[in-house]
Amino acid sequence: MTLSQDVANRRTFAIISHPDAGKTTITEQLLLFGGVVRQAGTVKARKSGNFAKSDWMEIEQKRGISVTSSVMQFDYEGKRINILDTPGHEDFSEDTYRTLMAVDSAVMVIDSAKGIEPQTKKLFKICKMRGIPIFTFMNKLDRDGRDPMDLIAELEEVLGIEGYPMNWPIGMGKELKGLYDRYHNRVALFRPESDGTTYLPLDDNGDIDDSQPLKTDSWYEDARDNMELIEDAGNQFSEAKIASGDQTPVFFGSALANFGVKTFLETYLKFAPQPAAHRTEENDDIEPTDNEFSGFVFKIQANMDPKHRDRIAFVRICSGLFQRGMDVTLGRTGRTMRLSNVTQFMADTRENVETAVAGDIIGLYDTGNYQIGDTIYTGKKKLQFEKLPQFTPELFVRVTAKNVMKQKSFHKGIQQLVQEGAIQLYTSYTTGDYILGAVGQLQFEVFQFRMKNEYNSDVIMEPMGHKIARWIDSDQLDERMSSSRNLLVKDLAGDPLFLFENQFAERWFTEKYPDVKLASKL
Ligand code: G4P
Repeated sequence: MTLSQDVANRRTFAIISHPDAGKTTITEQLLLFGGVVRQAGTVKARKSGNFAKSDWMEIEQKRGISVTSSVMQFDYEGKRINILDTPGHEDFSEDTYRTLMAVDSAVMVIDSAKGIEPQTKKLFKICKMRGIPIFTFMNKLDRDGRDPMDLIAELEEVLGIEGYPMNWPIGMGKELKGLYDRYHNRVALFRPESDGTTYLPLDDNGDIDDSQPLKTDSWYEDARDNMELIEDAGNQFSEAKIASGDQTPVFFGSALANFGVKTFLETYLKFAPQPAAHRTEENDDIEPTDNEFSGFVFKIQANMDPKHRDRIAFVRICSGLFQRGMDVTLGRTGRTMRLSNVTQFMADTRENVETAVAGDIIGLYDTGNYQIGDTIYTGKKKLQFEKLPQFTPELFVRVTAKNVMKQKSFHKGIQQLVQEGAIQLYTSYTTGDYILGAVGQLQFEVFQFRMKNEYNSDVIMEPMGHKIARWIDSDQLDERMSSSRNLLVKDLAGDPLFLFENQFAERWFTEKYPDVKLASKL
């Protein structure tokens, strides 16, 4: 196969959802279709959600869970699919956001009883910012949920994206009869005892045959009425809007009952984009079919084994052909790196990878050479992909070294981990205190663990809780504006920002200093 055919077959996406919406269950179904797992429960058994936070490191080391389930690859109908995991629960971190920088589309799983929940909203925001296509699966139709019309409206009201229902539930919960599939002109009958693939064709009027018992079912009539209403008054299907992330095709179904998942996958594959060009800092677009190899590091998984300082740097390939053993340049340092110890990820094993192309993710064994955002490439021309965005942390701790005699290793550790992108560092203007910022609690725990293991530095972390971080213009900086409710700090680049205790504190501040403009990162 040629490089361009290989690239054209790639589909790389992440599933975004709030914990418990059904991400694991749907992933599992997709892997079953791909023949990667043979039995439901394989992925679920390895899910870390059931463990206490403190157990995480141990679990991580024993099972390598995050690495093996970070990227799952399978083939389906001639396409090679890469699913990138976006951990929820306690595992939520900046890595979760950065993973969304490495995908070409996203699948949003929503619990139809709950609608849009906070974590979905946060992850959606990043996808929207990237303008990537988003496909929605309204899950748990086998349970009583909210009115489908409400769920569609909520997409627009809460997320600002048009929803286009590809199918419509016929009943729900105990009364679930099937799906009126307007896109495929058929009704899929819900038969819990079968695999849910019994279809009734629709005639030119969009109706099923009179002989079908469902024809006179009030749920069926209801679904048809709703579809007609949407046909007349709803959004027009627009491939262009889907491609730009302004419209999301919505599929109803039940991941647990494996109902509607296959249709979802097959339709998704029709519309989901192949790998796109990636922009460099010089504003060049690197095409995925470019002959020179290139990629960027979007995640670093640290210290699987404390005896070895090994880490895995996850690279999204942007162009060219990766071949094991090849030499690449690491843009930031200019050093040549030989890519021989490289892994790719299957559902339950790690395998050595021989070749890979744009859209694929490879894991480089790393002894501290790579940082998040690094570009690697072949060819003579220096390449640096656009910087990964900085995310606004929400949780903060004050950090100090336990042993004052070990300041050197403390500073070295902090500096390196911050540079690598593991955590964000702020310094208080008034006291010079170090303050760490993160989007998830786990980042602090990983930080503490790595400081001890890699830099032999015990740290004391004093929680400051949730804060609202807002940047200001340096011109407007006045240290007298700082107080305990709006602490003035500077970030790594030296830019000033306030950490507000809560929204009231922020509002109070804007009223007191109406001329000071407050800005957030992503
Ligand atoms: P997550 O990865 O998004 O956190 O969700 P996960 O798939 O683990 O699903 C969360 C819970 O919701 C699980 O139940 C799962 O069985 C259930 N679930 C997922 N999809 C559906 C669906 O389509 N219908 C129904 N009724 N339930 C669904 P649990 O009781 O928390 O876990 P378990 O005991 O089943 O493992």
